[in-house]
Amino acid sequence: MNASAYNLPGVTGKASAPESTPVINTAVADTGARTVAQVMAQTQVQQVMDALDRDLVGLKPVKSRIRDIAALLVIDRLRLNLGLAAQSPSLHMCFTGNPGTGKTTVAMRMAQILHELGYVRSGHLVAVTRDDLVGQYIGHTAPKTKEVLKKAMGGVLFIDEAYYLYRPENERDYGQEAIEILLQVMENQRDDLVVILAGYKDRMDTFFMSNPGMNSRIAHHIDFPDYQEDELEQIAQHMLNEHNYRFDDEAQTAFANYLHLRKQQPHFANARSVRNALERARLRQASRLFANPDKELTADDLSTLNAQDILASRVFQNTKG
Ligand SMILES: Nc1ncnc2c1ncn2[C@@H]1O[C@H](COP(=O)(O)OP(=O)(O)OP(=O)(O)O)[C@@H](O)[C@H]1O
Ligand SMILES: [Mg+2]
Repeated sequence: MNASAYNLPGVTGKASAPESTPVINTAVADTGARTVAQVMAQTQVQQVMDALDRDLVGLKPVKSRIRDIAALLVIDRLRLNLGLAAQSPSLHMCFTGNPGTGKTTVAMRMAQILHELGYVRSGHLVAVTRDDLVGQYIGHTAPKTKEVLKKAMGGVLFIDEAYYLYRPENERDYGQEAIEILLQVMENQRDDLVVILAGYKDRMDTFFMSNPGMNSRIAHHIDFPDYQEDELEQIAQHMLNEHNYRFDDEAQTAFANYLHLRKQQPHFANARSVRNALERARLRQASRLFANPDKELTADDLSTLNAQDILASRVFQNTKG
């Protein structure tokens, strides 16, 4: 099958280049910017990066990699403005890390940055898993994958647990077909679609070993570390602020203890577990207030989670054996 066979209808105006030929993006108009500051002023990149810093706790190495990528794109913009042929950089990425470490959230911010700098037309993110790409029967996979690619074109395609696309134990697995199509589009239409693969680090490494073509197309590997306990506490604080809730002093301490215990239990999922724990605490607070139907409730009553709301968690019961 030749490479252009996978170009998608409606998005085929782009050069379809053989693997080693860089895609040269010369059709970009000069925005007049000659300094980094001018590019930043013309776009919302700074705002998106500030928001990333502000809204997301920790993730230092991740944030610094995102800044590096943004810097590359800003310099590219300046090169293009002066008519220097800028090789459309390969921006496909792989985000590895345990559940709840912020991969999806950062991917959405990344899509915004890429859009602000004109690398993708719209900055939307389409998140999928194997089932969205791979069909059950012969002939079903290609149309499914192409449909998803069409939706994602002009933005970011985020493939969660991407390694499930490859099932070597199953000789006739259709996942391989989806991979082939992705590989072509990642190469030929990389100036209008950024693919981000996500999942556990070890499984992703194994996947890349068996799929060197995929590995060679991923320019940026970003690892998301697990959060420390104090970071999880800060994340909780962010989430509470966001929704106009607060812990009282005892609840604060109880929640720190909760995190310490929960972290050692199975299926701990970092910030996602924090979010879930807060949801449950909110339910308990509601039941607690509900039990006193005649009490006049102040704004403070309605927004305060107390120690009881935390300590009723199963996590504490389990420790009693
Ligand atoms: N550093 C952070 N600061 C504040 N909130 C965070 C942070 N990281 C994650 N969150 C929040 O935690 C939740 C889970 O994050 P997200 O979905 O991005 O994680 P993920 O790595 O994609 O997880 P999964 O592997 O389970 O899909 C989201 O509600 C997100 O807003
Ligand atoms: Mg996710």
